[in-house]
Amino acid sequence: MTTSTTPRTELPPFPLSRRGDVLPAEAERLRAEQPVARVRTMTGDEAWLVSNYQLAKQVLEDDRFSLKDTANPGVPRQYALTIPPEVVNNMGNINSAGLRDAVMKTLSPRADRELGSWLEAQAHRLLDRVIAEGAPADLRDAFAEPYSAALHCRLIGIPTDDWRRLMSGIDVAFITSPQPFEGSTPNWYKDLGYLLDRLNADPAPTRGLLGRFVELRRSPEVSEQVSDELLATVALSLFGAGAVSTSAFLQHAIIALAQQPELADRLRAEPAVIGRAVDELLRYNLSIGDALPRIALADVKLGEVEIRAGELVLVLIEGANYDPEVFPEPEKIDFDRVSNPHLAFGGGRHFCPASALGRTHAEIALTALVQRLPGLRLALPVEQLAWRPGFIKRLPERLPVLW
Ligand code: HEM
Repeated sequence: MTTSTTPRTELPPFPLSRRGDVLPAEAERLRAEQPVARVRTMTGDEAWLVSNYQLAKQVLEDDRFSLKDTANPGVPRQYALTIPPEVVNNMGNINSAGLRDAVMKTLSPRADRELGSWLEAQAHRLLDRVIAEGAPADLRDAFAEPYSAALHCRLIGIPTDDWRRLMSGIDVAFITSPQPFEGSTPNWYKDLGYLLDRLNADPAPTRGLLGRFVELRRSPEVSEQVSDELLATVALSLFGAGAVSTSAFLQHAIIALAQQPELADRLRAEPAVIGRAVDELLRYNLSIGDALPRIALADVKLGEVEIRAGELVLVLIEGANYDPEVFPEPEKIDFDRVSNPHLAFGGGRHFCPASALGRTHAEIALTALVQRLPGLRLALPVEQLAWRPGFIKRLPERLPVLW
């Protein structure tokens, strides 16, 4: 029997390569030949992959491409949902519950005057231990994860010692799977239960987001409208969104500095460059392993392609951030780039609300690292790094270094 549907094998598969140290050749080829290309996702659905800067920005800034609607039943998907569908519209829920101010204050590095010196102390405390134990050291387990997680425990207002339980929840919540899997629901509710307990702990939390929520809950208008479950959901989703993004980016930045020691030497000699350096490392980093998904709410012309309402559009951040039209010599890490309008924090309505915090976190960590570990290099050939399969981030399973 013949059929008129496209054979499943003909479309390029998405996601692209898991390796995080080299730009996938496919990203470059697609950008040059077909910046809006039909691809097949791991669920077997078809999607449009957008891989140049101008069109990526257009999608992110056009509200006819919706993030919220990616959670609807029956829409084409990038991978199965592992969190409750309503959590996808996280910032929308935060805004409509009147929690925006509390959340934005929590995410603002300027709202916490002690944050900078506290982060610096965390970084040096972890590096003291790395140095005392000697090289080689795994900077993922001994530095990037505990440092990022400690920041997020402080933001949320939970004990730092509880970081591992929440980080291991993320290991499950951010799996990319073709179909829903058994562990994802209990994983979510286990961590939600933990945050509900912390919210209602006696004595009540006084610090961080939970401290703010406890205050807000005292006002009758808020307590009538906002359930404890919503407050705990907001706290859990912020921990999830932030801890993995910051830790993954830091690991990618460390790999880049370890491979190009002249860049680390420059940061040691000229610490004031760190702001521009972090932005350039953000542009260069490949930690986002999936694409930013949107569902078209209307028919929209995108470049040469007519996107139909209901179709899935995937924005490939590495496609945009290595676009030579905007970033000359994109493969080069250049701390002196004059203009660096990268999309590492997304764009438009869903632009990361914690970009300033993400930058501060990395600036302090990398400054401490280059000072304390001069001669930093990978302890194995870069090709031997094991990249985690089936995860939304490109993450090395171990990050062994020498110095
Ligand atoms: C280097 C660190 C970070 C990077 C590279 C990063 C990257 C991103 C990107 C690309 C988006 C856009 C997603 C989309 O458009 O679909 C985003 C959104 C978001 N990020 Fe970040 N992020 C970082 C740190 C953080 C931190 C520390 C937090 C919170 C503690 C956070 C919370 C969020 C939230 C809540 C959103 C959703 C915004 C919305 O839907 O409107 N991020 N981030």
